[in-house]
Amino acid sequence: MTPKMLDRMRESCQLAARCLVMVGEHIRPGISTEAINTLVHQFCVDHDAYPAPLDYKGFPKSVCTSVNECICHGIPDEGTVLKDGDIINVDVTTYFPNQPRKGFHGDTSVTFYVGEPSEEAKKVVETARQALEIGIEQVKHGARIWDIGAAIQEYAESQGCSVVRDYVGHGVGKEFHMEPQIPHYLPQKKAGLFEGLKNRRMKEGMVFTIEPMINLGTHETELQDDDWTVLTADRKLSAQFEHSIAVTRTGAEVLTRRPAIVKGSEDLPWSEVGPLSAPAAHAARQGDDASSG
Ligand code: MF3
Ligand code: CO
Ligand code: CO
Repeated sequence: MTPKMLDRMRESCQLAARCLVMVGEHIRPGISTEAINTLVHQFCVDHDAYPAPLDYKGFPKSVCTSVNECICHGIPDEGTVLKDGDIINVDVTTYFPNQPRKGFHGDTSVTFYVGEPSEEAKKVVETARQALEIGIEQVKHGARIWDIGAAIQEYAESQGCSVVRDYVGHGVGKEFHMEPQIPHYLPQKKAGLFEGLKNRRMKEGMVFTIEPMINLGTHETELQDDDWTVLTADRKLSAQFEHSIAVTRTGAEVLTRRPAIVKGSEDLPWSEVGPLSAPAAHAARQGDDASSG
């Protein structure tokens, strides 16, 4: 992307980031995923944006809401009501349909805790949060695209978790999903993405998502009959965080970095937030550390 295009991307991405901060104000036991859908839809419309999931390849709602063993692409509905101990990923994608900001997608997601989490929930959510941060640390002009997945896989598996292979990160911008694909694992020789990514390097101005889906048990997925909802094959927990990222000469610009602390995810004592993903929450933590000596 040119500097002008990047300016427009920043606007779309920052709106998506603000939307997640807003969602965090509402996550609690008793709220339905349909109500979250309404909040996200209204937020987009109120800010002259279009919620990109709506009607995308037939997706019926304005946001993806993926609860517990749902890996991704959960469809909001009245019947899914959050309860104490649940985890939920909310995946927001904004698009500006009108000038002067016309034409760019911002794609980002967070996993929230609903009430008091189990130790297992903390494990998978915090591993996913850290996996994204480690992926971002690999981004730099000239680095190999698959360094991202290699670092994420090594970390996640060292924590006893697994990395989903059936869904990957992607180029993002004028289109919701475009080249290149960004696996969160190291592709093996002669399999899947190996040939396509062999020798592919990051370039300044490239924009893509990193969005590791991390499972407590098997990495295997199971697509449901609605053709969207993806569950873990063993029905154990799954968590995900996503950012839209621009490659720079010296590293990464996290376009969807959070302008404020995300309640229900980044404000909890056990969450470790990265400086690139969540500068507001990170600065607050540093301040806490300093004042507590
Ligand atoms: N936001 C998802 C992603 O991170 C894609 C959702 S596609 C939809 O790539 F149709 F389900 F919205
Ligand atoms: Co994405
Ligand atoms: Co997304």
